[in-house]
Amino acid sequence: MTERVVAVGQDVVAAVAGAGDAGTAMSETVRLLKERLPHYTWVGIYLLDRDELVLGPYLGKPSPHTRIPLDRGICGAAASQRQSIIVDDVNSDARYLACSIETKSEIVVPIMRGDTVLGEIDIDSDQPAAFGDEDRVLLERVAEALAAKLDTT
Ligand code: SME
Repeated sequence: MTERVVAVGQDVVAAVAGAGDAGTAMSETVRLLKERLPHYTWVGIYLLDRDELVLGPYLGKPSPHTRIPLDRGICGAAASQRQSIIVDDVNSDARYLACSIETKSEIVVPIMRGDTVLGEIDIDSDQPAAFGDEDRVLLERVAEALAAKLDTT
């Protein structure tokens, strides 16, 4: 991981831990990630409500996908498979639900408590293949911190 990404991770985890409630933790996460990592064009958090992912805090263009069933989209796939998904070229992925025509690549990281999916972090980029292992490791750390906060508030 580059020093910059390590620093972003530390700052987001500290902000989540210090937040008074889960809503503030999620908004701060979205704000810091979008502000500090310029290739993160759209940053949002979905929370699982029964069998649908419901859009919570986000920054970027408004998305038409405010509720996503678990069997739809890259978001649904990441939650159902309980694993992070990176898509280098969204237009060649049949699962992709378009949010903006400028979007080229996407990463979705589940927020888990044990085996239970609580929600997920969803990031779109206007750059193709913008996300790699470094982003996955960063966002999985952030997801862990958010899971602890969602558990207690
Ligand atoms: N692209 C996602 C839908 C959410 S928007 O990107 C905000 C998907 O394929 O599930």
